[in-house]
Amino acid sequence: MERSLVLIKPDAMQRGLAGVIIGRLQGDGLKLLALKMLHMDRSLAERHYAVHRDKPFFRDLVAYITSAPIVAAVFEGEDAVERIRKIMGATDPAKAEKGTIRADYGLDVQRNATHASDSVENGRKEIALFFSGKEIFPPGPTES
Ligand code: RTP
Ligand code: MG
Repeated sequence: MERSLVLIKPDAMQRGLAGVIIGRLQGDGLKLLALKMLHMDRSLAERHYAVHRDKPFFRDLVAYITSAPIVAAVFEGEDAVERIRKIMGATDPAKAEKGTIRADYGLDVQRNATHASDSVENGRKEIALFFSGKEIFPPGPTES
């Protein structure tokens, strides 16, 4: 079983897409273990996107992700990391496969609706940035 951090980014939040996107992941059999809405501050954004610190788009990315509230979620499932990234599609919505979340809802390479962890190890680190242990619920009869 793998876990992934999923973010519903500001562009998707502003268009009321949080429920639809979470529903798509649940519809694929992924289990929702944690969920919250928050407005990321600069410090959290810089830690979350630390791997992109030296990229030309880093400043813009931090400004964008802190521009409005987002939803953060933890999903669990077999091969969850790869499955979720497949459901989301390529970073650039224009290049994302038809039927993926980013193809359907992304606006451009930055405002691409969602984030998902790109490895189990990064998922572990990202989840710890957003959720305490008490906020992550074991999969059970309340959520399946
Ligand atoms: P994510 O981390 O958000 O799931 O997306 P990803 O793995 O598909 O893409 P990544 O390379 O990790 O980039 C992180 C986020 O930075 C923004 N971005 N902007 N202006 C640009 O050229 C550019 N490239 C990436 C996107 O919001 C991307 O999701
Ligand atoms: Mg990434």
